[in-house]
Amino acid sequence: MSEILATQITWHDGSVTPAERQQLLKQTGATIWFTGLSGSGKSTIAVALEQVLIQRGHAAYVLDGDNIRFGLNASPKILIDTRGTSEAAAKRFGLGFSAEDREENIRRIGEVAKLFADAGLIAITSFISPYRKDRDAARKIHQTHKTGPIPFVEIYVNTPIEVCEARDPKGLYKQARAAVASGKGMGFTGVDDPYEPPLNPELTIDTGTLSPAQAVAKVLNYLSAQGIIRE
Ligand code: ADX
Repeated sequence: MSEILATQITWHDGSVTPAERQQLLKQTGATIWFTGLSGSGKSTIAVALEQVLIQRGHAAYVLDGDNIRFGLNASPKILIDTRGTSEAAAKRFGLGFSAEDREENIRRIGEVAKLFADAGLIAITSFISPYRKDRDAARKIHQTHKTGPIPFVEIYVNTPIEVCEARDPKGLYKQARAAVASGKGMGFTGVDDPYEPPLNPELTIDTGTLSPAQAVAKVLNYLSAQGIIRE
């Protein structure tokens, strides 16, 4: 390849605009925010959606609660054991499942998702995100983004707790019930910690009637109708 000279590069005043990014990626950066109980099927739908979007030529990336809690939002113990973080720093920055830690978990993910979406990607988040005010705060930072609002699509994965508990893929509901029975408690969402369902989600996925493939199709149709993805 011949050398590229400075005279051959067009200078753009200011920063890259959202329109330029949209033209490059043929999509509008957006955050697709899945919320629902543990075991509701959020991650199954999120990764299937990501796969289909990529197959169709869209840039998408899943931020998954369980996975992010090994890195960016790791617990103090993981930080000490796997990152060599000092005890003091691990205590300050590590996250567990208290109301405060969940708030910080969702605050960080709201910010990260917004960065991804601002870069033009379709950021797909899969977190219980049990508290309404924390999800609303994530929505607000998207709506008030300084170069213009970034679409925020809240999707409620509406699986009843009885179904999640019957699935219990990680055995955590069983553990939580035992902890409650012993009088200790575990602060587990839906058992002894609250889940506040969205009041006005853009979409609700009823996993009792929709298969994961049908759920993905429902989300794709919505994204297409909103002009977030284009052929
Ligand atoms: S959130 O409440 O802060 O949004 P997040 O989605 O990151 O939670 O993590 C939820 C996952 O952590 C669950 O799927 C489950 O595997 C695990 N987990 C461990 N302890 C708890 C708990 N006390 N409440 C809910 N989930 C828990």
